[in-house]
Amino acid sequence: MTGVVIALDGPSGSGKSTVGRHLARVHRLGCLDTGAQFRAVAWYCDAHGIDLADGDGVAVAARDLPLEQSLDPDDQRVVVGGVDVTDAIREPRISTVVSQVATNLEVRAELRRRQRSTIAAEVAGGWSDGRGILVEGRDITTVIAPDADVRMLLVARAEERLARRALEVHGSVDADAIEATRDQILRRDADDATVSTFHEAADGVVTLDSSTLTLEETLAAAERIVTDVLSRS
Ligand code: DC
Repeated sequence: MTGVVIALDGPSGSGKSTVGRHLARVHRLGCLDTGAQFRAVAWYCDAHGIDLADGDGVAVAARDLPLEQSLDPDDQRVVVGGVDVTDAIREPRISTVVSQVATNLEVRAELRRRQRSTIAAEVAGGWSDGRGILVEGRDITTVIAPDADVRMLLVARAEERLARRALEVHGSVDADAIEATRDQILRRDADDATVSTFHEAADGVVTLDSSTLTLEETLAAAERIVTDVLSRS
């Protein structure tokens, strides 16, 4: 008996981290935030003076990254070379440049290797004791774990995603807050969409649109999808 793999994709502000942590908690699975890995590479390059325009240099950084990432959904700690960067990788200076890392195909190949090996370790043992893993990000349902037991795409209308992120970051949804958020959400997703898929569901991927749902309704709907798909497999 091997553990369960749940793959979750979605654009920025779709709520995939919150939904992912919730599902991992409910099913007692490890929770792998793949976006944090791209952010950790960006942080590492900044700390070591590696120019993000130097594609090969950034790819080497991704390959050698001394990353320790907790899979506990209640403690998503990220440590790089002994430095706790959990908060630092969420700072605007990282959010603004991380697309440059995420669109580097060699970096994607390096992190793909890491992500697949983490998945293999979790279904066999690891943090979850073999119960399995929830993996969230982009390309997860299609490239990283196309054979996952559950494959879900979480979407929401752009205005909704903007409003949610503006509230989260600026505590307001007034015009200034929305404008300040636009670059983080829409420009970044437009850049990222050149190399990864997260707007369209591939064959066999269940779409959950949270545009008109409250957070509680979204979590409940995601849970129903997981229970439903697992009961049929
Ligand atoms: O979800 P996030 O904002 O933490 O992701 C950080 C960046 O990495 C963002 O530009 C999207 C990108 N990303 C990606 O290309 N593939 C993933 N599997 C996860 C994130």
